[in-house]
Amino acid sequence: MVKAVVCGAAGGIGQPLSLLLKLNPIITELALYDVVNAVGVAADLSHIPTPAQVTGYLPPDNGAEKALKGADIVVIPAGVPRKPGMTRDDLFVNAGICATLAQAIANAAPKAFILVISNPVNSTVPVFAETLKKAGVFDPKRLLGVSHLDVIRASTFVASVLGKPTEASNYSIPVVGGHSGATILPLLSQSKPAIPDILADKEKRDALVNRIQFGGDEVVKAKDGAGSATLSMAQAGAEFANYVIDAAFGGKKGKVVQAYINLSADAGGDAIKKEISSDVEYFSVNIELGPNGIEKILPIGQLDDVEKGLLEAAIKELGPSIEKGVSFQPPPPKL
Ligand code: NAI
Repeated sequence: MVKAVVCGAAGGIGQPLSLLLKLNPIITELALYDVVNAVGVAADLSHIPTPAQVTGYLPPDNGAEKALKGADIVVIPAGVPRKPGMTRDDLFVNAGICATLAQAIANAAPKAFILVISNPVNSTVPVFAETLKKAGVFDPKRLLGVSHLDVIRASTFVASVLGKPTEASNYSIPVVGGHSGATILPLLSQSKPAIPDILADKEKRDALVNRIQFGGDEVVKAKDGAGSATLSMAQAGAEFANYVIDAAFGGKKGKVVQAYINLSADAGGDAIKKEISSDVEYFSVNIELGPNGIEKILPIGQLDDVEKGLLEAAIKELGPSIEKGVSFQPPPPKL
């Protein structure tokens, strides 16, 4: 019996994400919460014959906490998306929404795994952590910033540069750092299988790194004012949620993924700080998932000279974004 909740379920990401979660047969309850249209989306999805029983909630009558009650996992794509010309940092307006939702989770589902999609992830994950700390329920093993879209983009773009676009899913490239522009650090030198031809061609490599870091801009531009990545993000979010569910409730062991987390989640976090020569509290790192969420923080591993330069740039930009999230003071908007 697994209860999943989507907050922001009626949005561009929320709807396809909820659909993909409805298709996971391990989920038996799927509660959808949004400030608009969540009941309609739930009614629609409820006609699909999979085990998850779908319910929808709006703000009146404490709808958020009703949706969240007893949740095992909460996925959060609530908030405003980017318009052309905006960076993810311009979305700090979402911090208030995140603080409000974090408080509702603290009240109704303090043990749930929390997967944060709302941007800017580099700041909204600290906002969640700080609100949960104040409520006395913060467990860093259960709070995960979803940077998985960067990982699926890396596989897709690498395969495309290699002229093997149909083989994208065979390429696995860890992406660490943060989830915004220069903070996104794709470790092409650790690609499996290895990609020596790309590594040897500076121009090709620089263009590829740039595309992975700024791939979201491609979508924002192409949608021309109608929003940012929604379908690819829904796929990334559902895939990532399913990894967490499989590890926590399906007994699957040893799954390693990257997520943007608080480095106090495991002793491996201190080793990361040494590896990156920085004392940032949040970083996207390799984690092993298990019954408690983050079972282990694993080393980043060997970086080549190009990646060492990118790491420096990433940390420089990440520090202030984390600080912004940590020092954020609600007043949150009304639910
Ligand atoms: P959208 O505007 O289509 O949907 C957002 C939904 O959140 C709307 O249905 C809205 O009613 C709802 N919402 C607003 N305030 C709320 C509240 N207080 N409680 C519950 N729901 C609330 O936006 P879209 O495109 O779905 O994007 C959502 C967020 O995801 C944005 O912050 C966007 O920047 C972020 N995003 C993150 C990515 C990542 O890789 N982590 C990738 C793409 C987008």
